[in-house]
Amino acid sequence: MKRTGPIGIFDSGAGGLSVWREVVRELPHEDTVYLADQVHMPYGPRGEDELRQYCVAITRLLLAEDCKAIVVACNTASAAALKHLRETFTLVPSIGMEPAVKPAAGASRSGVVGIMATPATFQGKLFRATAGRHASAVTLVSQVCDGLAEQVERGELDTPATEALLRRYLGPMLAAGADTVVLACSHYPFLIDLIRQIAGPGVQVIDPAPAIARHLRQTLEERGLLSGSEGAGQHRFYTTGSGAGFAGLLHTLLGVDSAVGEMGWQGTELTTSPQTHL
Ligand code: DGL
Repeated sequence: MKRTGPIGIFDSGAGGLSVWREVVRELPHEDTVYLADQVHMPYGPRGEDELRQYCVAITRLLLAEDCKAIVVACNTASAAALKHLRETFTLVPSIGMEPAVKPAAGASRSGVVGIMATPATFQGKLFRATAGRHASAVTLVSQVCDGLAEQVERGELDTPATEALLRRYLGPMLAAGADTVVLACSHYPFLIDLIRQIAGPGVQVIDPAPAIARHLRQTLEERGLLSGSEGAGQHRFYTTGSGAGFAGLLHTLLGVDSAVGEMGWQGTELTTSPQTHL
């Protein structure tokens, strides 16, 4: 691994940008390559084998681009494939996302913690293991939030439809007495204002992205992989969907204006389209 290589970050779509922005804040001198597998978005209802296959191909492509670390900026993909990626690509550190049950359990005074995630995240072993390790002293209220990541993907951060979905999903947690809510899908931090507004001031909402960025910095430090550059990092964005569509989302969600390259799936491999240069 070369310390001058970029950090590879991927998600099913734009959700991982909530992690990307924290990575850039924490590590402003690092270059990044972000890949959104929008043609397969949502990942949430997909099976483990299928997700694993996508994650392996994406990681392979990012490694071919000299990425020195991989950030799986997606709870769903982490649940399905993080362990497999670590076993398969042993030379590169893979940082993933698991529901932030531990900090939530520590923060909760009512002893009830709500968790918002996709179906595949709750079905994965990673969630059961995390919940088993850290939630013995609290009650977890798990809420599958069908359709919510898609609202973010459409740029609908505060429309009536998004608010209606949030009210439906937050209702049972609040009724059960949750005073802490974990955002266990990387799309949801883009809805944090609306979530806070609906949940009220007595409820703490946990976005795990800053902790992921700190963990990444620590990992790079330990492995001697920090870039050492003093200039601002360079950032490239790619999608398996529409480049123009993703560029619009980058602007809506982060105020970032950038060209976005397009890639395509050929069978189980990812290929760049002729006009795309990684
Ligand atoms: N952003 C992904 C996550 O963190 C899920 C969205 C999807 O279903 O594709 O879980």
